[in-house]
Amino acid sequence: MYQDSQLVLKKDVPTGRAAWRSPSNIALVKYWGKHGNQLPRNPSVSLTLSESYSETSVSYRPRSAADAGAFSFLFDAKEEPAFADRIGKYLTELQPIFPFLDQLHLDIRSRNSFPHSSGIASSASAFSALALCLCSMEHQCFNTLDDDKAFRKKASYVARLGSGSASRSIFATAALWGQYGEEPESSDEFAIGVKDQLHETFQSYGNAILLVDSGSKSVSSSAGHRLMEDHVFAQVRYSEARKNLLQLMQALHSGDTERAGLLIEVEAMQLHAMMMASRPYVILLAPNTLKIIHLIQEFRKSTKLPVYFTIDAGPNLHLLYPQENRSDVVAFIEDVLVQYCLRGSWIDDRVGNGPVQID
Ligand code: DP6
Repeated sequence: MYQDSQLVLKKDVPTGRAAWRSPSNIALVKYWGKHGNQLPRNPSVSLTLSESYSETSVSYRPRSAADAGAFSFLFDAKEEPAFADRIGKYLTELQPIFPFLDQLHLDIRSRNSFPHSSGIASSASAFSALALCLCSMEHQCFNTLDDDKAFRKKASYVARLGSGSASRSIFATAALWGQYGEEPESSDEFAIGVKDQLHETFQSYGNAILLVDSGSKSVSSSAGHRLMEDHVFAQVRYSEARKNLLQLMQALHSGDTERAGLLIEVEAMQLHAMMMASRPYVILLAPNTLKIIHLIQEFRKSTKLPVYFTIDAGPNLHLLYPQENRSDVVAFIEDVLVQYCLRGSWIDDRVGNGPVQID
């Protein structure tokens, strides 16, 4: 869709720099199962986070014969061969979209606001930050992406090719990725911002990330998505996700925190049920994840507060709550839940305003 052989530097190849801070996001309806080139089997919706982000800069200059490769990459000022390898493949794949990359040498530097070992998925923030840098570079070199909407659409498309969930990190507050009948502009190829569809309660929602276990994932996202290919429940799951999305969007719109919360929890449990029912089966929930789930259920019963959880492909939980209940929730975490977290650690995050360009 974005292949463009015109984007070749004609005369003087410039030097320059682009840098972005881009957040992670938490899916409320989960993307689990893909096909073709990073296309989702069902639409998903997420809240954009605020404090969990990647900062990435790309300095570019004309490539010379003396350059050993097309780019150098440092993560936290250190070499990370596994990341560099994934970035190298990504840049090669992007060549038809950004043909000028062949003319440049890139120095890429990246860091995360959260510890790498925390078990938070970093691919969404990392690939969205890099995709935004590449789109900024295109604009600096060719003046093609002046319109903010067009810029974000392309950045989301490019981010998706690195990691599906990264397509959703481009937008403030909330994003929807995948074709969905109720949204004429939605697409499997890029996400769209859906901030306007959220009741204001959800636009400032709190998101406490409870770090239960930092162990590196026993199944990568790509391997996890592959487990859906021959899954006996795959078709049922994809249609459930659509139904859940329809109902959740209504609840998010009307400000119904209880109805939204229940749907969000069902989504998290369906994701893990799919993993546990695949061949080979995968269990990513830890004993303390289940303990915390029970404690949240009890807390809800006794306080009647709309505090709900979601979980991605790992053992950590995200506690979602309205800002007006913040002090009760923080007390509940500090007094009751932290003992089940790894070294008592949790991240005090919230819904955020999306990526920002940095110096
Ligand atoms: C469980 O976006 O990490 O977090 O496209 O293979 O990089 P790739 O997968 P990824 O999958 C995310 C799965 C999830 C649910 C979600 O974020 O929607």
